[in-house]
Amino acid sequence: MNESILPAPEPADLAVSLALRQRICSAIDAANGHLPFSEYMQLCLYSPGLGYYSAGKEKFGAAGDFITAPDISPLFAAALARHCVDALQQTENGIVLEFGAGNGQLATDLLTQFVELECLPSRYCILETSPSLAEAQQQTIFARHPDLTDRVVWLDNLPAAFQGVVIANEVCDAMPVHRLEFTSQGYFELAVTDDGDNLRWCHRPLPIQLEAFAEQIQQLNQGTRPYITEVPLVASAWLNSLAETLQQGAVFVIDYGYPASEYYLPERVQGTLRCHYQHQAHDNPLILQGLQDITAHVNFSALAETALSADLDVSGFHYQKDFLLAGGLAELASEQMTGSQDVFMQMKMAAALKRLLLPGQMGESFKVLSLSRNVELTRLCPMSDKRYLL
Ligand SMILES: C[S@@+](CC[C@H](N)C(=O)[O-])C[C@H]1O[C@@H](n2cnc3c(N)ncnc32)[C@H](O)[C@@H]1O
Repeated sequence: MNESILPAPEPADLAVSLALRQRICSAIDAANGHLPFSEYMQLCLYSPGLGYYSAGKEKFGAAGDFITAPDISPLFAAALARHCVDALQQTENGIVLEFGAGNGQLATDLLTQFVELECLPSRYCILETSPSLAEAQQQTIFARHPDLTDRVVWLDNLPAAFQGVVIANEVCDAMPVHRLEFTSQGYFELAVTDDGDNLRWCHRPLPIQLEAFAEQIQQLNQGTRPYITEVPLVASAWLNSLAETLQQGAVFVIDYGYPASEYYLPERVQGTLRCHYQHQAHDNPLILQGLQDITAHVNFSALAETALSADLDVSGFHYQKDFLLAGGLAELASEQMTGSQDVFMQMKMAAALKRLLLPGQMGESFKVLSLSRNVELTRLCPMSDKRYLL
């Protein structure tokens, strides 16, 4: 999309963006004029008080920039809850740990399900990087579950050691990525520089920790140049630290993304980085700092490799549609449809199901990587398992 037709920001928003841009320019100066893109993305999204996720503007739903599955239908949480219960029942005193709980809708609906299924975890913990979102989450969750204030807690760090279930829905795509560019002169890390008027792309020599990735990408993209792509070092480090503390239980990573063979296809010459601003998608992260979401598809093969090297079991890799159906989505929807005479509700539910399940919508573009340690995820369907793609 042509970025010149993006909606113009309000003056107050522009002022916040300008303040963030100044902070970014200082960081560029401090980095000798070239800030690695991953650090730029970190500042754009999470800079205290100014970043996209930290500044307190509405991001979710019609008034924001995007809609996630929990806002489409509570059936998403209902099906996910059944996978969680499967793992929770095999742990002693298991907790649920949700990363990046957004507006709190998923946690609210999951807790409703856990109560109904008589399988409330001993604690429902949330690790959220954005203080303003953590506040919004508290309001949403406790408005529906005022009796659970002792059980739902916000953490600043990973628990030292724990058993239970970890959920990350659309969190890994919001983690900063490193960007690489392959040119006829070799391969480089993409960085951001300030030319006095505008922020611009520039090259940095490839740091050593990206070299193995660059070699792997060159094999998968068949040496295609010019070629720009992303590398998920931050998401892999996140999963590594999680694996160090999970003693027994399951991790469900739900997101849009690809296995490496598809991520680094020769024809994907501009990578997967996208920006979302008021429901418009485009691919220039060097504008609207702090006002637009910046996201990259998840490289599920890299996460699976990290999991294996950290001694987690890779228990399944499914399209979202197959994961939700294995969680009982069809039965739950049909129970609710037949139990109601409300035609409007039935039409709304049918539209939500299409959005969550159809291959052209979220059904196949979203995948679920299921990891485990010392539990068996019995609800996962072997017939639809796509681990062979990883
Ligand atoms: C796209 S939103 C998804 C929100 C929610 N999970 C949903 O499905 O609606 C990304 C969320 O992840 C949070 N986040 C990003 N990186 C994180 C990290 N390393 N730890 C915890 N939260 C993180 C953001 O602040 C935000 O709440």
